[in-house]
Amino acid sequence: MDTPLTDKFNRPIRDLRISVIDKCNFRCPYCMPAEIFGADYNFLTNHELLSDEEIVRLAMLFAQMGVTKFRLTGGEPLVRPHLPQLVARLAEIPGIQDLALTTNGYYLSKYAGQLKEAGLHRLTISLDSLDDEVFQVMNGRKSTVSRVLAGLAVAEASGFQAIKINCVVKRGVNDHTIVALARRFKGSEHIVRFIEYMDVGNLNGWKMDDVVTADEILRLIGADMPLEPTPPNYPGEVANRYRYLDGEGEIGVIASVTKPFCGNCTRARLSSAGEYYTCLFAHNGTDLRGPLRAGATDEEMLDLIGGVWRRRTDRYSELRTSFTRVPAKGAEMYRLGG
Ligand code: GTP
Ligand code: 5AD
Ligand code: SF4
Ligand code: SF4
Repeated sequence: MDTPLTDKFNRPIRDLRISVIDKCNFRCPYCMPAEIFGADYNFLTNHELLSDEEIVRLAMLFAQMGVTKFRLTGGEPLVRPHLPQLVARLAEIPGIQDLALTTNGYYLSKYAGQLKEAGLHRLTISLDSLDDEVFQVMNGRKSTVSRVLAGLAVAEASGFQAIKINCVVKRGVNDHTIVALARRFKGSEHIVRFIEYMDVGNLNGWKMDDVVTADEILRLIGADMPLEPTPPNYPGEVANRYRYLDGEGEIGVIASVTKPFCGNCTRARLSSAGEYYTCLFAHNGTDLRGPLRAGATDEEMLDLIGGVWRRRTDRYSELRTSFTRVPAKGAEMYRLGG
């Protein structure tokens, strides 16, 4: 690219978060509450989902526009058939420096080796508590802690290093177990990241009272195991990093509610139905599947993708003050993959 593609606030496009499937085998109440996502819920049909071919073509176009990092999400990405084959194709796209996957860990024992072989660089595993009862409440009673830890062990044995562990913190549900989670991975190369519960989507009944703020999380953990801030790994990193004073590793906190980070947000999102979103909280996406299937040329697709980014003005988290939720919400997290 000659001139880098930037939006109205001069933010370049750097990351593409690709949701490969809308389905998930968990029913975390903060994301896919079981009352709504029942047996008769209409998930996308195979025809509605982007095919591997289509994802690869779009990913190549985004890479041409300046994207250097892909993150695969869902739903639960490992529920998509033949994911390692798709990973192998994405790993070969020129210009991609980072290829990561966020998973709930349930199928990792089965797939970690194949994913490593396919060329996946990094893994993030969601695990909201080490207490089985608490974890089951957080995931809608679909998995046990030991199943996820077994997946983590296979991932380590397959060669994944510095795995990130994501923990969404919800007041009164799992906040009393976060110190134990931090302690469990202290002294290992893995990095636990505590995420402020966000008001994403319309279905989880979010209220500010449910949010445990990053400051509170740091106080709770720091009181037991002293911490100090440490600089970001790269500009625009979502998590703020803190290292243990005794040198035994680090944790991250993702403060999207109390300390928004829209100012340097370089993330585009592709839903599993081929909608292109320029913000996690956007109301509408731009349909890329339609033009793709209608035979648009690369040039036409690049114009479409570039035009949307050039007009981008999203900064939802900054506009929403910490304590008021902006009404009329956008797309659901399970479609955009967080
Ligand atoms: P690294 O690549 O390791 O830095 O991780 P990441 O932050 O890109 O990945 P991950 O998918 O683990 O993101 C962690 C969480 O941060 C997500 O699940 C969201 O809850 C939140 N998050 C990520 N990107 C955004 C964003 O653009 N806006 C907001 N508001 N939250 C985000
Ligand atoms: N707030 C914060 N994080 C969330 N996630 C899902 N829903 C929410 C929410 N409402 C997290 C998942 C996973 C990541 C992809 O997003 O737990 O770690
Ligand atoms: Fe599934 Fe992740 Fe949503 Fe939980 S948060 S229901 S694991 S997609
Ligand atoms: Fe980026 Fe939107 Fe998140 Fe702000 S709220 S960091 S603009 S995705």
